[in-house]
Amino acid sequence: FDTGSLAGKRVVITAGPTREALDPVRYISNHSSGKMGYALAEAAREAGATTVLISGPTHLPSPERVTLLPVVSAEEMYAASLQALPDCDVFIATAAVADYRPDQAAAQKIKKGERDTLVIELVKNPDIVAAMAAHTPKPFTVGFAAETERVIDYARDKLERKQLDLVVANDVSRSDIGFNSDENAVTLVWPQREENLSRRSKHQLARDLVERIARQLA
Ligand code: PMT
Repeated sequence: FDTGSLAGKRVVITAGPTREALDPVRYISNHSSGKMGYALAEAAREAGATTVLISGPTHLPSPERVTLLPVVSAEEMYAASLQALPDCDVFIATAAVADYRPDQAAAQKIKKGERDTLVIELVKNPDIVAAMAAHTPKPFTVGFAAETERVIDYARDKLERKQLDLVVANDVSRSDIGFNSDENAVTLVWPQREENLSRRSKHQLARDLVERIARQLA
């Protein structure tokens, strides 16, 4: 691991979950802890990069010498990503972004009432990583894919559909890796090939990923 391999580069990373408000006290979210994204921010900084970490709500301490931009919702994460885009060399999307949000967050707490069912209409959130990949000049854009089946097929589909340079695919049907665990095992899906990175700590995986990205930029 060459500690200067990203010197002079600007790396922007999204991490953690997003929260989509239903009303002032409730939200839709997921189990992302932010560990993978925070580990990547540390690895990018260790490699010499100027590092920006756009993070949804997590319980993690903010990494040293990394610019942390805290956000809550997918729309906020999108706005922060657009702002961080100028001069961005590498954009890495580890965040588990909610694909949909409630059409309208209720201004007051939703009351239980007499109803046995409650229908909430959801609308699609902006696709952050696809928007970054569509930008000119295009940063080297890395997506993650959390899948429970046909992991490689779906990851390759994301690579092509979102015009990404690399997709890091994890099988989240396993409870020992992926969401919230300290370890992860992934398959790197490149345009022309695939590479397995067997189970290891998210910190080690982050260093291994940064090394490969740096090699690709060189
Ligand atoms: O946070 P941890 O507990 O450490 O867990 C890590 C992780 C499992 C969350 C992480 O490794 C991971 O797989 N992140 C992506 C999870 C995900 O939501 O994948 P997806 O298949 O829904 O999205 C694909 C890619 O598009 C991702 O890079 C995602 O950040 C991005 N995306 C998705 C939707 C959206 N509206 N905007 C996006 O940028």
